[in-house]
Amino acid sequence: MANILFNQVYKRYGKYKEIAVSDFNLTVEDTEFIVLVGPSGCGKSTTLRMLAGLEDVSDGEIYIGDNLVNDIPPKDRDISMVFQNYALYPNMSVYENIAFGLRLRKLPKHEIDLAVKRAARVLEIENFLNRKPRELSGGQRQRVALGRAIVRTPQVFLMDEPLSNLDAKLRVQMRSEIINLHRKIEVTTIYVTHDQIEAMTMGDRVVVMNRGIIQQVDSPEMIYNKPVNMFVANFIGNPPMNFIEGKLQEREGQLEFHTNRFALTLTSEQAHTLRKHNLLDRAIIMGIRPEHIHFMAEGSEDAESMVTGILQFNEFVGSDRYYHIDIKQERPLVIRASEGVRSEDGHAISALINMNKALFFHKDTEMLLTK
Ligand SMILES: Nc1ncnc2c1ncn2[C@@H]1O[C@H](COP(=O)(O)OP(=O)(O)OP(=O)(O)O)[C@@H](O)[C@H]1O
Ligand SMILES: [Mg+2]
Repeated sequence: MANILFNQVYKRYGKYKEIAVSDFNLTVEDTEFIVLVGPSGCGKSTTLRMLAGLEDVSDGEIYIGDNLVNDIPPKDRDISMVFQNYALYPNMSVYENIAFGLRLRKLPKHEIDLAVKRAARVLEIENFLNRKPRELSGGQRQRVALGRAIVRTPQVFLMDEPLSNLDAKLRVQMRSEIINLHRKIEVTTIYVTHDQIEAMTMGDRVVVMNRGIIQQVDSPEMIYNKPVNMFVANFIGNPPMNFIEGKLQEREGQLEFHTNRFALTLTSEQAHTLRKHNLLDRAIIMGIRPEHIHFMAEGSEDAESMVTGILQFNEFVGSDRYYHIDIKQERPLVIRASEGVRSEDGHAISALINMNKALFFHKDTEMLLTK
């Protein structure tokens, strides 16, 4: 088992030296389960492939344990990787594909057999062991690839979107199988996904990337509640955080957030922090999650945190409804609330913002101001 260290790692691809990963610094603790998440093309696979030795490092150092691995060939790194494109051996059966790594290591036959069958059972592919990969669906192939990785206990597990082709139910099931497996064998694991729910539910810590650059490394709770910038705030959470543009104004000793439609009173803590930034009368962005806005009880009135707008439409998603409200901003305000139609589409609607949950971001740098 081992910890992993990335020290100022860069990857530049091809003739034009396009930067895929930039100044990547990260320590993964021994036995930790860490998740890399970010949009397509942000450099997740490249990072894993450099760690596995499948891509050269353009600059910087990668350590596994105490060993600098930059120049160590992939087979000597004791890493087990699930590839994004599975890369199964087409002429081998499912059984042989899963057994391949163990055979290379010359394990006794009965041990291999036990390991393959155990993995196949966990992954629900026992009935396909004699088939060739081309005779399987995408999700089944993906599980074979996962099986090939989990039959042995390496120093490090790397998993690149291992569940992306599974249906929702199987995905949830496999998610917990992977977590259980990790609890049992405690191998340091880096798991890549662009699914934020997967990232939040699986990671001890989550690394959010964008355009080759780490944005934030934190616990799922911190990523969700204190995103360092608008990119993270927008990327994590569904529906995403609402962003409202307005101005800070002082009124009777209180700091208020003014838009052309409504004014909201800041908490004293928010006011205290924002006063230090000298942003009075300047444009600023308020962020509020859809579940932190509530419909008003009939007849109640709380001008301090009230917004009004026109209900454009609402979406039924089972346990909740998402209400899209036009408040004359770039995007409609989205409220997540339990079932029950509050108003007809096209009609005015009022809601209360839980200001304790509001975050404020700098309009130009997009960084969180109210830390
Ligand atoms: N072999 C390559 N040659 C040149 N550019 C590459 C190569 N592989 C990846 N890239 C580029 O590097 C960037 C990062 O790619 P990478 O595969 O790491 O992204 P990713 O985060 O894994 O995305 P996805 O979620 O789509 O898998 C992309 O802009 C991609 O086009
Ligand atoms: Mg990828």
